[in-house]
Amino acid sequence: MRGFFFTFEGIDGCGKSTQLKEAASHLEKDGIPVLVTREPGGTQIAEKIREILISPENSEMVNECELLLYLAARAQHVREKIIPAIKKGVVVLCDRFQEATFAYQGFGRGMSLEFLQKVNGFATGGLMPDCTFIFDVPSEVSCRRMEMMGKKRDRLEQNGSDFFDRIRKGYRILAEKDPEGCLLIDGSREIGEISEIVYKKINKFLKSALLK
Ligand code: TMP
Repeated sequence: MRGFFFTFEGIDGCGKSTQLKEAASHLEKDGIPVLVTREPGGTQIAEKIREILISPENSEMVNECELLLYLAARAQHVREKIIPAIKKGVVVLCDRFQEATFAYQGFGRGMSLEFLQKVNGFATGGLMPDCTFIFDVPSEVSCRRMEMMGKKRDRLEQNGSDFFDRIRKGYRILAEKDPEGCLLIDGSREIGEISEIVYKKINKFLKSALLK
């Protein structure tokens, strides 16, 4: 079977990482080879870039530097880890990918989407997810969840609720524009209900590959 590439997206605290773990354990139980990875990160070099990106110490980072670091991490991750895994027939589950750049740097920071698509294409070499799951929650829910988890806020999470409202809206627009590639899911539903939706969608892809 050929490999697949699924990405999990949404504002911080939307539940994407929980859903990614749920999907991985479902697939592993079915005996399917899975690779769980994340952006920024996933390789030694990209994890180092991640530290720079999220460190609250780097509050003076300009938007251009931020964008290029996300893309630098992605370029390494795609070539060193994601493509080789897909080629081996693995199902790759990635916590964030290109939609995060469009939502955060585009809708959040105000950069041109057209420009972002171009530079992102350079970073990915044209690799596209088979499906992007976008978990939609209001920014108040996201803030409450992060407080409940007692999570220390990273550099981006220190932005105000306006920033997260713009990103949420951005993700919804991205999903609307690309209904084939993105699945928008109400992230305030029960964890089990959401994981069923995700698992069914992934299975549809796997089954269609078996038929080919
Ligand atoms: P995480 O907390 O989900 O691991 O993501 C780290 C932060 O990086 C999160 O606030 C979202 C942000 N981000 C971007 O702004 N652009 C990107 O392209 C990616 C991948 C993440």
